[in-house]
Amino acid sequence: MTHDVRGVIARAKGAPAELTRVLVPDPGPGEALVAIQACGVCHTDLHYREAGIGEDFPYLLGHEAAGVVEAVGEGVTGVAPGDFVVLNWRAVCGECRACRRGRPWYCFATHNASQKMTLADGTPLSPALGIGAFVDKTLVAAGQCTKVDPAAPAEVAGLLGCGVMAGLGAALNTAPVVRGDTVAVIGCGGVGDAAILGAQLAGARTIIGVDVDPRKLEWARQFGATHVINSRETDPVERIRELTGGFGADVVIEAIGRPETYEQAFYARDLAGTVVLVGVPTPRMRLDMPLLDFFGRGGALKSSWYGDCLPERDFPMLTDLYLQGRLPLDKFVTETIGLDDVEEAFAKMERGEVLRSVVKL
Ligand code: APR
Ligand code: ZN
Ligand code: ZN
Repeated sequence: MTHDVRGVIARAKGAPAELTRVLVPDPGPGEALVAIQACGVCHTDLHYREAGIGEDFPYLLGHEAAGVVEAVGEGVTGVAPGDFVVLNWRAVCGECRACRRGRPWYCFATHNASQKMTLADGTPLSPALGIGAFVDKTLVAAGQCTKVDPAAPAEVAGLLGCGVMAGLGAALNTAPVVRGDTVAVIGCGGVGDAAILGAQLAGARTIIGVDVDPRKLEWARQFGATHVINSRETDPVERIRELTGGFGADVVIEAIGRPETYEQAFYARDLAGTVVLVGVPTPRMRLDMPLLDFFGRGGALKSSWYGDCLPERDFPMLTDLYLQGRLPLDKFVTETIGLDDVEEAFAKMERGEVLRSVVKL
């Protein structure tokens, strides 16, 4: 059976996101069909639309989602119809060189569905990050479904599927921040605010939020920043040093993905401190810095892919913390919108008006 549903696609480079009919096959071996309940709008969806990730148009957009499993294919034992799940783009294979060495969060062979979802005329769709979730129902590999407590609202749980997990994980998994650390976060959008929240959860003593937008700094405070710096007005490196006894922060998280803010992060940390790059740079960006400083300042320079998360470990745990009132994930949801509002949500995102717009189905 094929499911005839509505989905949001990017048809060609720069073309506005478009609501259209999508055909979704029944799940085959190892696959699951998921009725989407909520899906956040992420920068990556916009990058797909602008051909920043590839040219495999048309794309089925959306990837930060939660929903209910409707059907599973042959051999699927991990999830069953009726399960409330968050979709992930790291269904670890268990067999690649990273998995075999006990580092599954680097898995280099993550699973996706093998069958294609298509347009009404049969044109195969490329699902964003192997998910594609601005759609009534999507087809994924069963391992992309992570069960979490169904008491959590879908628009909140779904956030764990991408940006919020990236920020939380940059602090909790990649750095990792430990109790008593001083932490600075450069860029206080959704990802940076999640890093602030992660630092707070880990017990950081000082948490400094840096941004150029006063509205973002106000939000950063609400997520737990103990100090904020407007780096348009104040040199962030000097000010971070002042706020950390003259030394710099133990951990600096860069949540923008730009050379100049990476450089700030590099010099704003204490000797032997840690820099975590979670913002995603573009292919043209270059860094020109004295090699001696890399040696002389020591410490660790890390990148965080998807917050180095393990969905099966992290999603249920973070959902539980939310339900216990210890992790205010709902604050990331600036607005809930319909499937036909995605294009407008991209515009709001570019104007910096939202942390997350979340499509509710
Ligand atoms: N200095 C300080 N802050 C800046 C600067 C700058 N030079 N340039 C931009 N910012 C701030 C913006 O004001 C904004 O608050 O960085 C923040 C970026 O946040 P968003 O645009 O909301 O992006 P977000 O969703 O948080 O993602 C950040 O992480 O996963 C990646 O692809 C994603 O590269 C992106 C980054
Ligand atoms: Zn693997
Ligand atoms: Zn994303």
